[in-house]
Amino acid sequence: MPFMKVEKKNPKMAAGAVQLAPSILAADFARLGEQVAQAEQAGADRIHVDVMDGHFVPNISMGAPIVHSLRQITRLPLETHLMISDPDFFLDQFVEAGSDSFLVHWEGNNNLHRTLQRIKALGKGVGVVINPATSAAVLEEVLPEVDQVLVMTVNPGFGHQHFLHTVLPKVRRVRQMIEQINPACELELDGGIDPATAALGVAAGASVLVAGSAIFGDDDGVTAAMNRLRAATKQAVN
Ligand code: DX5
Ligand code: ZN
Repeated sequence: MPFMKVEKKNPKMAAGAVQLAPSILAADFARLGEQVAQAEQAGADRIHVDVMDGHFVPNISMGAPIVHSLRQITRLPLETHLMISDPDFFLDQFVEAGSDSFLVHWEGNNNLHRTLQRIKALGKGVGVVINPATSAAVLEEVLPEVDQVLVMTVNPGFGHQHFLHTVLPKVRRVRQMIEQINPACELELDGGIDPATAALGVAAGASVLVAGSAIFGDDDGVTAAMNRLRAATKQAVN
């Protein structure tokens, strides 16, 4: 079957169907509950939790206790982006804390299929993540197994980096692969998302956008920031 022709605009998405996943990495941790509540009220679809171990990426961030605390104050799905060397060792504690889904990297995992199966066996949503230097081609064998693909639009490890425009052709390729292999699979982008890059990402085929600093770092507040992002995504699909 030939690959589907990809239009400039994203024909798959009905207006408003693009989901927003605020990343709490950019939140003020002293006011985390308040900021997540604001994001929920402003229509966030899920909360993105970035877990870093100082080994897989050159930064450390947060662990299962944060998920546990968030679970008490929000009904939103908590998606857990594991930027750690041994994701299998930590799945149980995140599930116990309240994670709803996991995003695990293709890079550095010699037994990715096993990790994906473990997450499914735990009854949780599962996504595979690829870094900017990783080819879309590596997804072919795992696409039937996952609910989400996350394409990193920055190198993982830090918030507030510039969106890598060179990743956009790969986003279009991943959208084509998803249409062919697993049309129900979500295509998420993470890193450097603001209203301008959100529009580009959605036009390339993204259905979910992670945003940290563009939401929690906006001087006008979480609600105004999310409204601006949503308006940009709607423009891209109309
Ligand atoms: C980066 C993380 C991102 C980060 C995005 O390694 O995976 O989720 O929070 O932050 P912004 O939106 O500020 O680029
Ligand atoms: Zn992330």
